[in-house]
Amino acid sequence: MSNNNNDNLIIEKLFKPKSIAVVGASRNLEKIGGVILSNLVKNKFNGKIYAVNPSAKEILGVPSYPSLLDIPDEVEHIVVAIPAEKVPEIIEEAGKKGVKVATIIASGFKEVGRADLEEKVVNIAKKYGIRILGPNVFGVVYTPMNLNATFGAEHIHKGKIAFLTQSGALGIALMHWTSMEKIGLSSIVSMGNMTDIDAIDLAKFFEKDENTKVIGLYLEGLGTGKGHEFIEVFSEITKKKPVIALKAGRSERGTRAVASHTGSLAGSDAVYDSALKQAGVLRASDVEQLFNWAKMMAFSESFEINGKGFVIITNGGGMGVMATDASEFNGLPLLEVPEELKKEFRKTMPWFGSPNNPVDLTGQSNVQNYIEAIKVALESELVSGITVMYGEVAFLDPVELANGIAKTLKEYNKSRKPVNVVMLGGEKTKMGTEILEENGVPVYPIPEKAISSMAALYKYSKIIGKANLKI
Ligand code: COA
Repeated sequence: MSNNNNDNLIIEKLFKPKSIAVVGASRNLEKIGGVILSNLVKNKFNGKIYAVNPSAKEILGVPSYPSLLDIPDEVEHIVVAIPAEKVPEIIEEAGKKGVKVATIIASGFKEVGRADLEEKVVNIAKKYGIRILGPNVFGVVYTPMNLNATFGAEHIHKGKIAFLTQSGALGIALMHWTSMEKIGLSSIVSMGNMTDIDAIDLAKFFEKDENTKVIGLYLEGLGTGKGHEFIEVFSEITKKKPVIALKAGRSERGTRAVASHTGSLAGSDAVYDSALKQAGVLRASDVEQLFNWAKMMAFSESFEINGKGFVIITNGGGMGVMATDASEFNGLPLLEVPEELKKEFRKTMPWFGSPNNPVDLTGQSNVQNYIEAIKVALESELVSGITVMYGEVAFLDPVELANGIAKTLKEYNKSRKPVNVVMLGGEKTKMGTEILEENGVPVYPIPEKAISSMAALYKYSKIIGKANLKI
């Protein structure tokens, strides 16, 4: 890892190359090199694609050459999908070709005791100034360029979250999961052995990347001796963008598992916890929580939080109680609704509703009740943020409600308060969820997840000194 500007420019080539070549591309789509090429082609990468294969002239419509040196064009990024032993000679050729960055897919290096082979590759790369991602990775995705140079899922849902992972299988699974859940990604990067490019280099790119609003990290280790640098660099990044980390290897056995996975030294969990805190990095306890929080951050227009506390609006008392508990457990201050504001809320609900917080519109509420209650909450300077909850009932259509909420927020959320929504129910709530998220409103399936995500946003706002709550 290095700090100079030239290196930063080279790392840009990992995500925004003018041209990319897959070394080890195969006509056989059951082989990793075949899938990587296919993902690049099917996603319509916004640059030139080349294949390198000993015998093919063309694969999937892409021109193929026996060697990198035969490609009659500049190549900025190569993805190397041939067995580990053959990688050094490819990096040597890449150096001669003027390649800037190499993603090395192959396993069979430090993680299996072949530190010598890894070192050989690194030394050749250094000689030519090539930066290396990996080895032992599934590749890299950057959706603004339609770059999917991985052997993971073909389809990625586009969005503003960059996810960097030291675990390959987890990353590939999450490519499928985020696509199914329509969680929008700007990027997903497999970091593998981090022999050269590491989480610090990558995060520095995403700090400046206008297509990324939040960075998610799955980490097993930082790399030996990198603790201070990590804190220094991430302290700066988190001032500009939220970073959410999932640090595995918490238990003693987990630590040993890390050593045999990526060859990293996991270190004591307490040390990491303190390093992440010092760096202003939020720590999630599982991947789902990481993405729940990230979604909240990615959809938020501002991290400034004012007022005197958060408000929950619900059509179900039980859900309200669950959300209240979750608020307390997650350190999210709820507003004590003063009499005057209660009067306003009372006007928005049937006579048997409750204007306290949670504001209970009751199971008999309609779209208009929700709209009016949301307007009251948006217009009150006391309200810091709102969680709107809907439990599906037969006579209140979640699709109509979603449209109503989306329109109301667009028209009335002038002060850009954080708002999220719970849609708890069946198929139609999924449709409601889609409508809201297409309109930039984060939706969660249960109260606890929405509250935990709102609390994460509040925590981040405190970290960057933008929480001005007068409690
Ligand atoms: N230049 C260009 N192409 C070459 C080549 C070279 N020097 N050497 C071999 N190839 C071609 C092969 O001919 C083959 O193409 P073909 O199917 O048309 O014959 C293709 O490259 C792949 O080579 P092959 O030897 O068949 O390797 P493979 O596909 O079985 O395995 C890896 C290659 C890299 C996938 C495998 O070694 C590996 O490391 N797998 C683990 C990957 C992994 O899990 N990474 C971590 C994820 S988190």
